[in-house]
Amino acid sequence: MADIRVFPDSSAVARAAADIILATAARRTASGENFSLVLSGGSTPKLLYQLLAGEPYRALINWSRFEVFFGDERCVPPDHADSNFKMANDALLSRVPLKPAHVHRMRGEIDPTEAAIEYGQMLKARFGDGGPDITLLGMGDDGHTASLFPNTPPISETHHRCVAHYVEKSTTGKSWRITLTPPFFNRSAQVLLLVTGASKAPRVAEVLYGPSDPQRLPIQVIQPASGQLIWMLDHPAAANLSAAT
Ligand code: 6PG
Repeated sequence: MADIRVFPDSSAVARAAADIILATAARRTASGENFSLVLSGGSTPKLLYQLLAGEPYRALINWSRFEVFFGDERCVPPDHADSNFKMANDALLSRVPLKPAHVHRMRGEIDPTEAAIEYGQMLKARFGDGGPDITLLGMGDDGHTASLFPNTPPISETHHRCVAHYVEKSTTGKSWRITLTPPFFNRSAQVLLLVTGASKAPRVAEVLYGPSDPQRLPIQVIQPASGQLIWMLDHPAAANLSAAT
């Protein structure tokens, strides 16, 4: 049974996600460990990042034990308007006292394959066979998540934690992408899927209640092995759900 939570609007989705991050980070850091958060790209998480950078969250979070990673990156320099790092940095990372060594960005400015290998090795050294505490993901209108686009090889990746590929039809046109892979995403203790807006409604219903077809609907590969998957939707994105059940 999917854990689907519906909120009145995108601000309420962001607040609920911020509360989960705050509570999980507090539990983790109380036992002297680092809390690990995988950030998503796209525009949806911006509100959440801005919330975490403001009060009360900023004062309540133990930033010295907070580590951030990225779920995917567009292959552009970190100050490029398309960079997922730039969005997260502007909205959150540059505004809170994170340790620079705890910000693990994907190097979109170097050779994509090299950047993916480097990132995968870093993840292996950091997590071994485990995974992060919380992974944030979004969903595109076509059912892609992170840079797992329909009918592309990373959907079927079983070994590597991170890969690079050239995408013919991405949200930024034909472009190289670096993405974490299903085996790594599925080692997360918690995955929060933040999906807002009416344009996502038909796909949300299809992904949740239609037949399983991850090549066409890549977000369906996100099924944490022993973790929790939470869909966090606003009313417009959830509009087709009751009709589908
Ligand atoms: C990316 C993203 C991507 C995103 C979805 C949803 O780098 O493009 O990681 O998977 O999460 O496309 O994007 P929006 O939040 O902008 O709808």
